[in-house]
Amino acid sequence: MRNATDNAEALAWLAWQVEMGADEALLDAPRDRLSQPARPMRQTAPNLASATAQATAAGPREAPPVWTPEATRLVSNDEALASARALAAGANTLEELKAALGRFEGCDLKKTATNLVFADGNPASRVMLIGEAPGADEDRQGRPFVGVSGQLLDRMLGAIGLDRGSAYITNILFWRPPGNRTPTPAEVAACLPFVERHIALVEPTHLLLLGALASKTLTASNDGILKLRGRWFELQPLGSPAPIPSLATLHPAYLLRQPAQKRLAWRDLLSFRVALDKRP
Ligand code: URA
Repeated sequence: MRNATDNAEALAWLAWQVEMGADEALLDAPRDRLSQPARPMRQTAPNLASATAQATAAGPREAPPVWTPEATRLVSNDEALASARALAAGANTLEELKAALGRFEGCDLKKTATNLVFADGNPASRVMLIGEAPGADEDRQGRPFVGVSGQLLDRMLGAIGLDRGSAYITNILFWRPPGNRTPTPAEVAACLPFVERHIALVEPTHLLLLGALASKTLTASNDGILKLRGRWFELQPLGSPAPIPSLATLHPAYLLRQPAQKRLAWRDLLSFRVALDKRP
């Protein structure tokens, strides 16, 4: 039976792992890797001639152990993309789009995420903000921008007279990358048809692209965010009836790390407000 000391020790180990960045459970059951036999170390600077002679003398070699991660991709990137496009195209409402994402199996992030993070705010406002990816708080709650960057985003919106009743917020990725790692191009590509359909269904009059991933992905640019921010683009994602004036700006998480850059974001926000005020 476990006693209080065992529990305290287990908790201390857990806290240590979280501190080291291991804050995701990738398997349902723990695996004790320390109890597995150590694999022989690979020799450095192998002598190929003698290695070949030894291998021939020893007869057919046993196949090296194959590591089969439980999270192996079930579908190829092409299949994922085809499935994403078909599911996204078949959604005619935001509810259907969310349900389609629930059925989509082409993005491995879904396997490690706790919740699908679809959107927050008011789609009828037709002011749409697109961020990067859910973090730990968003993953827990299933809503975008509810953590510290979300709090800063709320203040940024408030500064130009907007809030979650007068803006609609989503992300490029609908599931949290484990440990908040940088999303892979395949993950972004798999989510993109849904993002495009999302925009087409909301029909925003204006888009605010928050940070490098949203800005670079939607403008198909390789420029860095400091070059893209403050620039307006006319974007027409697949299925959108007309080009949408879209402004790239800095991500609140970046502004939390680089508070001196807030003045640039402030300029962008003012430019966004002016554009909204010109709406018919
Ligand atoms: N950062 C994002 O880009 N999106 C979120 O939802 C939260 C943090």
